[in-house]
Amino acid sequence: ETVDWDPEETGKGGYEHYMLKEIESQPTSLTNTIKGRVSPESGSVDLDALTPETISEFREVQFVACGTSYHAALYGSTLLNEAGVRARAYRASEYQMGSDPVTDETLVVAVTQSGETADTLGAMRRASRGGATVLAVTNVMGSSAARAADETVYIHAGPEIGVAATKTFSSQTVTLGLLAHRLSEHMGGEDRGEPLDLALDALADLPDDLGRMLDGSDAERITNRYLGSDAYFFIGRGLGYPVAKESALKFKEITYEHAEGFASGELKHGPLALVTPRTPVFAVFTGEHDEKTLKNAKEAQTRGADVVAVAEEGHPAVDATDAHLPIPDTAPQWAGLLANVQLQLVSYHAANELGRSIDKPRNLAKSVTVE
Ligand code: G6P
Repeated sequence: ETVDWDPEETGKGGYEHYMLKEIESQPTSLTNTIKGRVSPESGSVDLDALTPETISEFREVQFVACGTSYHAALYGSTLLNEAGVRARAYRASEYQMGSDPVTDETLVVAVTQSGETADTLGAMRRASRGGATVLAVTNVMGSSAARAADETVYIHAGPEIGVAATKTFSSQTVTLGLLAHRLSEHMGGEDRGEPLDLALDALADLPDDLGRMLDGSDAERITNRYLGSDAYFFIGRGLGYPVAKESALKFKEITYEHAEGFASGELKHGPLALVTPRTPVFAVFTGEHDEKTLKNAKEAQTRGADVVAVAEEGHPAVDATDAHLPIPDTAPQWAGLLANVQLQLVSYHAANELGRSIDKPRNLAKSVTVE
């Protein structure tokens, strides 16, 4: 397999920042991620890795990753759980300290954009020592992760220059969605098929959906309304939870403002004590478990916070909240990905307004090669 990185792709192409260029290039990068991986006739997924015989030996899946890639891994493990497959995501730095045992019936999926993150490489070594099969999901051909793994799947997002990962998160979640489909075919329970098959249908429209959403995004105006707040909270449940975590991480990384991502249902178990009229809450609605998230968002509203709903048009949350970032209609599996892109724009515009060093935030590196 070869990855062609067009030299033109690595320039700023008229954008002020790589980050905005990379956010806006996602219709193209996602098209490349999906290309050739779903057979239109049979509806089956081809990832150039893991034969059905190999897959049928696995009893469980463990994901290991750091930072943004960890949030993609959490998205992937949630998709697999929904399809009836035993799966869990671990932070690679903690995994090495000894977490669940692995056996030769464990598939360990290392998710790493660069393929060079020391914590993730260390976790892969632990997995291999325990006899697991290790699959790397990476963006970089010939990277250390690709070389150390038993098998590799490339996300084909193209080069990412901005330190804050954006387009690679979207390509990771789609790749892990395809992987979940493939694994669940041979590992899932009786009723595995339907939700993931529907997601596969919706995938063909995803790049265009994303393009329309980017063209019409109101994220800059809404973000400006809330600048100067004490803190910025992000909440979601199910597939919305990794999105809330990822959006808060992005916001911290590039704005240097205090942001936190919570599971919606956990807000009332502590973080609610921090909620005031000066802590806007961005609530992610994916089309699953939304009633509960809306209830949690209202608990924050009662304490004076404004709630920004990231939801499809006409969603019941829109009238009940203070601002709306719309996402196109899609399968629940991809709604979180689209919501995440709106929230990438929120982080970008906040950082831009604050005059931050967006492409090279202080204290951070694109790839961290120490533990
Ligand atoms: C660094 C970067 C993050 C990234 C993480 C994992 O901390 O600043 O943006 O998510 O490493 O990187 P990887 O290349 O393994 O995905």
